[in-house]
Amino acid sequence: SRQIKLAVIPGDGIGPEVVAEAVKVLSAATVADDVEFALTWFSLGATRFLETGDVLTDADLGAIAAQDAILLGAVGGVPGDPRLANANIERGLLLRLRFSLDHYVNLRPSVLFPGVPSPLAAPGNVDFVVVREGTEGPYVGNGGAIRQGTAHEVANEVSVNTAFGVERVVRFAFEVAQGRPAKHLTLVHKTNVLVFAGGLWQRIVTAVAAEYPDVSVDYLHVDAATIFLVTNPSRFDVIVTDNLFGDILTDLAAAISGGIGLAASGNINPDGRFPSMFEPVHGSAPDIAGKQLADPTAAILSVALMLDHLGLTDAAARVRDAVVADIAARTGNGAFTASRGTSEVGDAIVTRMTDK
Ligand code: NAD
Ligand code: IPM
Ligand code: MN
Repeated sequence: SRQIKLAVIPGDGIGPEVVAEAVKVLSAATVADDVEFALTWFSLGATRFLETGDVLTDADLGAIAAQDAILLGAVGGVPGDPRLANANIERGLLLRLRFSLDHYVNLRPSVLFPGVPSPLAAPGNVDFVVVREGTEGPYVGNGGAIRQGTAHEVANEVSVNTAFGVERVVRFAFEVAQGRPAKHLTLVHKTNVLVFAGGLWQRIVTAVAAEYPDVSVDYLHVDAATIFLVTNPSRFDVIVTDNLFGDILTDLAAAISGGIGLAASGNINPDGRFPSMFEPVHGSAPDIAGKQLADPTAAILSVALMLDHLGLTDAAARVRDAVVADIAARTGNGAFTASRGTSEVGDAIVTRMTDK
C-alpha cells in the first residue's frame, strides 16, 4: 500500500485539541483506502520554547522537510507573555517553515455551507478562494530599526516582490480559476499607493491573462475589496493577492463564512519539491485553550485540503460531506456555536463517515 509520511505539529493552545480531532478524522477517512499514513509528531511552539529555548532546530526542519505532508494546529503563546518577548515563534517557526519549504501558495477557500448563519444580512452564494502569496511581501523580514527606543526611532519593514515570485503565484491562481465554474479572477492590491509592487503585480496579471482567455479578470484596491466582501461577497470567485493583504482578507473571509472555527488553509509547494503544510487559519486562541471549546472543523477541513493535495480525492470528499452534514445538524439543533465540546464534534464527524 501507498505510504505517506506525515509530520504532525500540534503546537500551542487549542492547537493540540483540534489536531487530535483532525487526526481521528484522517484515519477514519482513509481506513478503506490502500494507503497508510505514518505519523511523526513534532513538539514545537511556545510550549517547547519555554521548556528548551528552541524555536525550530535545523534537525527538526530537516526531519520535517523529509516528510510527504505536514499537519499543523496553531503556534504562539499568550500575546504579551514576557517570557516570549524575544522568541518570535511566529517568524522563527511558522514563517520559517513556509519560507524554507517554499510554500509560495497559501490557499484559503471560503464557503458558506448550507445552514450556517452569516453575520451578513444578505450573504448570497459565498464560495470563493483566496490565493495568498506565501514567501514574499512584507513577511520576508527585510527590515530594521535605528535609534530604537528613542524619540527619533526609524523602523522599516520592506515589502519584497519579485517578478519570479509574483508570476508563479499568479499562474497558480489562473489555473485555479480555470478549473472553477465562474472562471473569474480578482487581483487585490493597492496600486494607487504602492506603485512599484502594485505595478509589478498588475503587469504580471495582465500578461498571464492573455494565456487564459476564458478567465475573466478584474482588479480591486484592498480597501474597496473589504467593502465588497461584506456587501456583495458572491462577486468573488478567485482572489489573488500578496502575503499581508491575503492574511487580513482571509480573517474577514472567515468571519463572513461561518467564522474562524471553520476556516481551513493549505500552504502549498506546487512543485512538489517540499512537503505542503495544512493548518486552520486561526491561531492558538489562548482565551479558550484547554477547555474543549475550540471548533475543530477548521483543522478537519484542512485535512480535506491535504487529502485533495495528495490525490486522495474520494477521502477528501468523505471528510467534506461529513462536515457539511454535521454543520447542517448543528443549526438543526438551534445553536450553531458550541453546545458540544471539541472532541464531541470530531467524534460526530467520524461517526458520519463510518456509518456509511
Ligand atoms: P486566534 O485566531 O488565536 O483567536 C482569535 C479569536 O478567535 C479568539 O477569540 C479565539 O477564541 C477565537 N477562535 C480561534 N480559533 C477558534 C476555534 N477553532 N473555535 C472557536 N473559536 C476560535 O488569534 P489571536 O488571538 O490573534 O492569536 C493568538 C496566538 O496565535 C498569537 O500568539 C498569534 O500569533 C498566534 N497565531 C498563530 C497562527 C498559526 O499558528 N497559524 C495563526 C494566527 C495567530
Ligand atoms: C496566519 C497567521 C500568520 C500569518 C502569523 C501567525 C504569522 O496570522 O496564518 O494567518 O500572518 O500568516
Ligand atoms: Mn492570519
